[in-house]
Amino acid sequence: MIDLRSDTVTRPSAGMLAAMIEAPVGDDVYGEDPTVGALEARVAELFGKQDALFCATGSLANQLGIWLHTPPGTEVLCDAQAHIARAEMGAHGALAGVTMRTWGSERGRLVADDALAMAAVGCGPYLVETACIEVEDTHNFGGGTVQDFDELAKLSDGARSLGLATHLDGARLANAAAVTGRSFAEYGALFDTVSLCLSKGLGAPVGSVLVGNAEQMQRARVQRKRMGAGWRQAGVLAAAALHALDHNLSRIADDHRAARALAESISAVVPGVVEEPSTNIVLIPTPDAPGVAARLRDEGVLISVLGPTALRAVTHLDVTAEQCEEAGRLIGQAIGGP
Ligand SMILES: Cc1ncc(COP(=O)(O)O)c(C=O)c1O
Repeated sequence: MIDLRSDTVTRPSAGMLAAMIEAPVGDDVYGEDPTVGALEARVAELFGKQDALFCATGSLANQLGIWLHTPPGTEVLCDAQAHIARAEMGAHGALAGVTMRTWGSERGRLVADDALAMAAVGCGPYLVETACIEVEDTHNFGGGTVQDFDELAKLSDGARSLGLATHLDGARLANAAAVTGRSFAEYGALFDTVSLCLSKGLGAPVGSVLVGNAEQMQRARVQRKRMGAGWRQAGVLAAAALHALDHNLSRIADDHRAARALAESISAVVPGVVEEPSTNIVLIPTPDAPGVAARLRDEGVLISVLGPTALRAVTHLDVTAEQCEEAGRLIGQAIGGP
């Protein structure tokens, strides 16, 4: 099977498994796991932040990040197709009492003025008060869209002058940074908190890290435990995450090349249907997405159904460019090529 459903499907490599086996561990709820401590210190430093918190998932890191900034009864603003709006099971409302208003966009691309224009600040007893603006980079449902760094900077300045907090869902920030050439620290300087997934393009089996200042991370640590997500000898997972940072960060552009090969291969069969991917995600419009995905499964290719007329293929560590070309040819035939 060529599994292109997501970049979360990778298996730990032999080197990663060895690092996990050898990791020194302790009880992280007591703050005694040296490998978790090393990971948190490393990621905090990468982002130029005071502290970090290792979490089981990107969804948890986002929930904690937004919870930090947004008291119950206030709102977070985000893109209409944001992961926090569509794919976190309503957690921000259901668990944290946060409401959400969303802006529309072209494939998730941030226009800072559109976001800032929605802010409700000092609206007295009449309107829900905006507390936080959230941005996703790269934008998943937008198709791996990379945010323009100048727009991020404009949003950050505008939010700060309005007294609003900012959170960056950087689940795939490694992919964005590979394209813009910006460092994590440059992104970290723009946002109060950032979440980064190690379990996507970076290839760790589990884990995301939230970064922010020391007081925020202390509060997030308590809230994480309150949510039942304190963990004990998590160093085995932190070791995989450290291995991912050491070995897989520098190769992430390979996934972008594989995505381009996949898109070109589809276009060779059916010209003009897919756009050139910006990163590792290829969106494939087709009138019958579930039917096409089922046919492709029979031919050995797994892809995601994003909606009735949209498919998504994601490249990652465990597929080669050649496999992507082959998958592209089969996808092209399945969506109506000769
Ligand atoms: C942009 C984005 N944010 C957050 C997440 C959540 O990550 P997790 O699946 O680890 O909860 C995802 C997962 O696909 C994502 O694409």
